[in-house]
Amino acid sequence: MSRVALVTGGTRGIGAAISVALKNAGYRVAANYAGNDEKANAFHEATGVPVFKWDVSDYAACGEGIARIESEIGPVEILVNNAGITRDAMFHKMTPQQWHEVINTNLTGLFNMTHQVWTGMRDRSFGRIVNISSINGQKGQMGQANYSAAKAGDLGFTKALAQEGAAKNITVNAICPGYIGTEMVLAVPEKVLNERIIPQIPVGRLGEPEEIARCVTFLASDDAGFITGSTLTANGGQFFV
Ligand code: CAA
Repeated sequence: MSRVALVTGGTRGIGAAISVALKNAGYRVAANYAGNDEKANAFHEATGVPVFKWDVSDYAACGEGIARIESEIGPVEILVNNAGITRDAMFHKMTPQQWHEVINTNLTGLFNMTHQVWTGMRDRSFGRIVNISSINGQKGQMGQANYSAAKAGDLGFTKALAQEGAAKNITVNAICPGYIGTEMVLAVPEKVLNERIIPQIPVGRLGEPEEIARCVTFLASDDAGFITGSTLTANGGQFFV
C-alpha cells in the first residue's frame, strides 16, 4: 500500500498544489482545511482527495481529525504543515488578537499537528515532516511582526525536531517559499505588490504553487532520507540565506 500523506490547509493555494502533487506521485492524500467549505468541496470534486475540517490551532481538534484519517485511510507517514494565515498590520497598529491568531495557527499549529503523529512515526521507524515556513521568517517583513516571528519559529522547530527524529528515520525539513501567486499574496494591496514586492524578485514574477509542491514531493520521498533539518529556499532569488 502506498504511504498516507496529510496536508494541512491542503485545499487552497500552495496546499492544494501540494495535495495534488503528492496524489500524482502515488500517495494516499488527506487534505485538512479550517473554514472554507465551498472551496474544500470544490477541491474534493475536482481532485478526488478527501477533505477533513478542523482548526490546526486547536490541539484536541487535531487529535480527533488525525484519528479519523488514520482509521479511514491509514497511519499518517507524511505530514505537511502548510496551513497558515496572515493578519498583516504595522506593529504600532497590531492588536494582541492579530498577534495571537497568527502565532496560534502558524507556529503552535505545527506543535499541535506534529505532536499527534510523532509517536506513531517513531513506532513505525519512518516519517516525513515538511513544514512550510516563508521567506519572511528568514528576512523579516514590515507589516508582519506576527507572521515573521511564527515562520522563524517554524525553522527552529524544524531543526530541533530533526535531531530528535533522525535515529528513528523521521526527517523534518522546512521550505521557505517566496511570494507565490495565491489568494494570500494577492490580498496584499496592489500598489504594494506591484511597486514594492515584485520589483524585489530577480526572476521578475511571483512563484507558482506547483513550484513549491515539487519541493515537497522531493522531501517526502524515500530518496530524501539523508536530508533532515534543512531549509529549502524557493523565492526567485529575492533573498539568500
Ligand atoms: N515591502 C515593502 N514596503 C512595504 C511592504 C512590503 N511588503 N508593505 C508595506 N510597505 C510600505 C508601503 O509601500 C508604504 O510605503 P509608503 O508610505 O512609502 O507608500 C508603507 O510601507 C506603509 O504601508 P501602507 O501605506 O500600506 O500602510 P497601512 O497601515 O495602510 O498597511 C500593511 C500596512 C497592512 C502592512 C500593508 O502595507 C500590507 O499589507 N503590506 C504587505 C505586507 C506583506 O508583504 N505581506 C506579505 C503577505 S503574503 C505572505 O505572507 C506569504 C509569504 O509567506 C510571502
